[in-house]
Amino acid sequence: MGEAGELKGLRDDVYRRPLATALERLGLSSGWRCVDVGAGGGDVSVALAEMVGRDGRVYAVDSDPRTRDEVARAAAAHAQVIALTQAGEDLSLPEEVDLAFCRFLLLHVHEPLAVVRMMAASVRTGGWVVVQEPITSAGRIAGTPFSMPGARHPDVGAILPALVRDVGLEVIDAWAEAPAGVGPGPVSRYLETLTGVDPGEDPLVLPPLVTVIGRRD
Ligand SMILES: C[S@@+](CC[C@H](N)C(=O)[O-])C[C@H]1O[C@@H](n2cnc3c(N)ncnc32)[C@H](O)[C@@H]1O
Repeated sequence: MGEAGELKGLRDDVYRRPLATALERLGLSSGWRCVDVGAGGGDVSVALAEMVGRDGRVYAVDSDPRTRDEVARAAAAHAQVIALTQAGEDLSLPEEVDLAFCRFLLLHVHEPLAVVRMMAASVRTGGWVVVQEPITSAGRIAGTPFSMPGARHPDVGAILPALVRDVGLEVIDAWAEAPAGVGPGPVSRYLETLTGVDPGEDPLVLPPLVTVIGRRD
């Protein structure tokens, strides 16, 4: 992995620390070409754009066409962000990229392995695939496990290293991080946004995000 790039202006989301850790360990820097699969509102795409600079490029790919406007708004100051409406299962880019990234995507797709395979195929030889997904049921509110009935694979984080290996990538690094807290603060605000319920003084451990860094040989 290369030198750690400058991490600036990562948006103030409660999972920014795992994202920052991943980008630092990877050494993402100026000029890289990237794809953010399942880009949603573009938080990760903007973080990538800030680090790759004007000479880099970030394809923000999402299957929902409505996210294009959101990404365009979030990335207004970053001409290098290009929003594409595509399913991860059909990923097709105009060029090979140095990095394919996804966060909070694989828990929603029909077949996570198929998406990771397409991500692996989109990077150049020697390029990187980084996947960041939760183990939802390992989170706790006052000691009680989280549930996420809307997600197809809420615990996909638990099998992430195997998914990356099984598409033929070398697993270079893998770890888990979980924001936690008690009382007022960003963690309790995040939970209130998710559930509509103020957790008060209950101790909180948000679902850990497992990150796997794979390399295409
Ligand atoms: C929870 S959001 C995550 C957004 C962003 N990655 C983040 O971490 O802030 C999941 C996004 O994945 C998109 N999505 C779901 N299934 C997809 C698929 N098969 N291919 C591409 N995008 C998909 C959804 O439209 C949504 O925007």
